[in-house]
Amino acid sequence: MHLRYSVLLLLGSAAGGLGRQDADQTCPLTGPGLEPAGLMEQSICAVTTNVVPSSSSSSSSPLHPILQEFQDLIESDPRLYMFFDSMFDEDAVEPANSTQYPAGYDYHRMLHDLNYVLHTAPSFNTSMIHSINRGSPFYALLRWAADTPDGHAALLDKSVNAMIGAILNVWGDFLTSPASAHVLDDSPTGWFHPDSLRALEETGNLGQTAYTFSDMYTCDATAPAYGFPSWDAFFTRTFRPGIRPVSSPDDDSIIVNACESRPYALRHDVAAYDRFWIKGLRYSMRHMLAHDALADSFVGGTVYQAFLSSMSYHRWHAPVAGRIVRAYVVNGTYFSHPLFDSPNMYDTMSRGSTQAYLAATATRALIFIEADNPAIGLMVFIGIGMVEVSTCEITVREGQYVAKGDQLGMFHFGGSSHVLAFRPGVNVTGFPEERDKGAPNVPVRGRLAVVNNREIDR
Ligand SMILES: *[C@@H]1O[C@H](CO)[C@@H](O)[C@H](O)[C@H]1NC(C)=O
Ligand SMILES: *[C@@H]1O[C@H](CO)[C@@H](O)[C@H](O)[C@H]1NC(C)=O
Ligand SMILES: *[C@@H]1O[C@H](CO)[C@@H](O)[C@H](O)[C@H]1NC(C)=O
Ligand SMILES: *[C@@H]1O[C@H](CO)[C@@H](O)[C@H](O)[C@H]1NC(C)=O
Repeated sequence: MHLRYSVLLLLGSAAGGLGRQDADQTCPLTGPGLEPAGLMEQSICAVTTNVVPSSSSSSSSPLHPILQEFQDLIESDPRLYMFFDSMFDEDAVEPANSTQYPAGYDYHRMLHDLNYVLHTAPSFNTSMIHSINRGSPFYALLRWAADTPDGHAALLDKSVNAMIGAILNVWGDFLTSPASAHVLDDSPTGWFHPDSLRALEETGNLGQTAYTFSDMYTCDATAPAYGFPSWDAFFTRTFRPGIRPVSSPDDDSIIVNACESRPYALRHDVAAYDRFWIKGLRYSMRHMLAHDALADSFVGGTVYQAFLSSMSYHRWHAPVAGRIVRAYVVNGTYFSHPLFDSPNMYDTMSRGSTQAYLAATATRALIFIEADNPAIGLMVFIGIGMVEVSTCEITVREGQYVAKGDQLGMFHFGGSSHVLAFRPGVNVTGFPEERDKGAPNVPVRGRLAVVNNREIDR
């Protein structure tokens, strides 16, 4: 399994304090045998206080082989060496925000911080309930550098991106191992602390029900870690039967929601090619569909995008009944985001135009479905991995028939965003409106939209 972490999408205020801290401030480290600290705190520590101080055992411990390879890659290529040197250069950080890395931070320290993160699972920090960054330590390390011209270039470089993919796979191995369950406890930063549970329950109840975590999700509340063998098992948890019923199972004009998610954008008449890297939320259909032979039939069509919360459910479900025509993962970027973003992505990750950029560039799963209802016909689901996470794992195969609401796949350790695209002429209406950040998600498998016309010419 290869993981690329996903996204963390609750926006919030806790982001404000990411300035440089005193270099001698001690950061509580987490990990097996250590007191757990909040993930964000670790991340902040990691970039701001030499968390993995040169005197600490983490820092003096040898780099994991994959990170040694990363170092060799950076140093062997003069171009990459230049990028990785300049991306941490305070003076190069635009727009003027020179406080995000401690003085002297460089790629050597980045590698040592990554060495630390590779053995750490995201913990829940009760003060971070409204933070976008919960669970995203890699992103926290790279995000400021990613906004420099050199960082932007580095993260778009194919060899660097492939290396990051390989590093995330190593982290994925940790996150699927029993050691990663150390954050699944009721300590103040554990995911089953009463405050954490309350936040998870509030997210899952959608403002409509009053279930406990264990009423909603398949688990054993009496077992250690609620019976989850790893962080990944917790992250990809399933709803208990009946909690998320399929809307109108017998009416194929009703399209159901593919992911428990918050509406982000709806666009009609989407162009074959568009400038997805500039502000203005432009979808570039052929890029988004990775130039698949089927992409042409979607040019001029409709795109609906919605994003997932790290606190929520991360599996994907068939929005319509039909046959899987094609299903594969596109190897895209992991950390690249558009230069128009300010370094403070807390406000731009889920708003602004960033998600349209990710739809065209990020690692993603494409699942084309020929709907039973000819008024819909061929449609496509795209699961978009954002920042670190996730394997976009597809659990259906080409040729397979799916009923409306059946599982299609899932994000591992991350979430992210997803797109549904329809061909031009498919009259699909009734999508939920874009929501404020505090609004509950639209339930997975609940009613999403309706197709009006009977049949269209192909
Ligand atoms: C959670 O994170 C905040 C911000 O980094 C920190 O001030 C607080 O002490 C942390 N709380 C716990 C319980 O670790
Ligand atoms: C720089 O970072 C600080 C601390 O996060 C923030 O308050 C400030 O708004 C940022 N400045 C710019 C120009 O983004
Ligand atoms: C995508 O990357 C994986 C390794 O992460 C590799 O096994 C696979 O062949 C790649 N797929 C394509 C189409 O390049
Ligand atoms: C789509 O269907 C709605 C509802 O039947 C109808 O009002 C609208 O005119 C249709 N739009 C097009 C472009 O056919």
